[in-house]
Amino acid sequence: MKGIVLAGGSGTRLSPITLAMSKQLMPVYDKPMIYYPITTLLISGIKEILIITTPKDLNTFKELLGDGSALGCSFQYAAQKDPNGLAEAFLIGRTFIGGDSVALILGDNLFYGSGLSELLQSNSDPEGGVVFGYHVNNPGRYGVVDFNKQGKVISIEEKPHKPKSNYAVPGIYFYDNTVIEKVKHIRPSRRGELEITDINKAYLDEDQLQVSILDKGIAWLDTGTFGSLMQASQFVQVIEERQGLKIGSIEEAAYKMGYISKKELHGLAQPLLKSGYGEYLMQLD
Ligand code: DAU
Repeated sequence: MKGIVLAGGSGTRLSPITLAMSKQLMPVYDKPMIYYPITTLLISGIKEILIITTPKDLNTFKELLGDGSALGCSFQYAAQKDPNGLAEAFLIGRTFIGGDSVALILGDNLFYGSGLSELLQSNSDPEGGVVFGYHVNNPGRYGVVDFNKQGKVISIEEKPHKPKSNYAVPGIYFYDNTVIEKVKHIRPSRRGELEITDINKAYLDEDQLQVSILDKGIAWLDTGTFGSLMQASQFVQVIEERQGLKIGSIEEAAYKMGYISKKELHGLAQPLLKSGYGEYLMQLD
């Protein structure tokens, strides 16, 4: 399965911070935001990743992440000229996806919790589409999914005024290869975007959309506003300081997944010793 991280967008909800800098490069406590979604893909078992960002930010992402070989992975890059919507990722990424299935994760979504890796791995390489449902207080800000006891989706709506459930759809999606065909048939929404929710509806129309519940023990944070960005940083700091373990470390994920050896991990740690990040990597078992 291939993976796409969508890290473009205009970031206007965070201006002026984002006037000169990509939102997904900003720190969430002790590492750049994009480390978190990349880690999520790595622990899902995905090693071939396409990072989509704006033409302006592309080189900075390359500088930060390279070609992925240091992590035993492959990172490729593509530009999204304008923020035409999340589903455009499948048009931009169609050659990269080729004949495979694909996971899309939003560059500003952070997932953490026990059992996450197993859950994601069990849903990778799906027949049809798999989205997740996460109980939230304010579902109207998100895609909202309503489903029956068997996990069959009944409806899915983008930012509904009257949400049919409290289950928001987080920014990670697993699709079979038909997503490439489906994206060709959807049209821009009223807000002028190719909506991921319309892709999900296309799967739903074919009775091919499953929802998998993210347990309340798993944290899903998005970082789209000043407040939620600060909360995400505080969340990461509290957990990391309490447990002495890091969230969203791409090097640790690559090592734990067996993509790199201990020797290679230590090589990555060397230039990072001064901040304490490298020391953390050095002491991993
Ligand atoms: O966070 C989950 C939600 O993400 C889902 O529940 C919704 O169904 C989905 O539509 C999306 O909602 P948002 O309105 O919050 O998405 P937003 O426009 O904020 O974009 C999410 C991220 O994707 C953001 O970091 C910027 C990036 N992006 C966005 C657009 C529209 C791109 O890279 N390119 C784009 O064209």
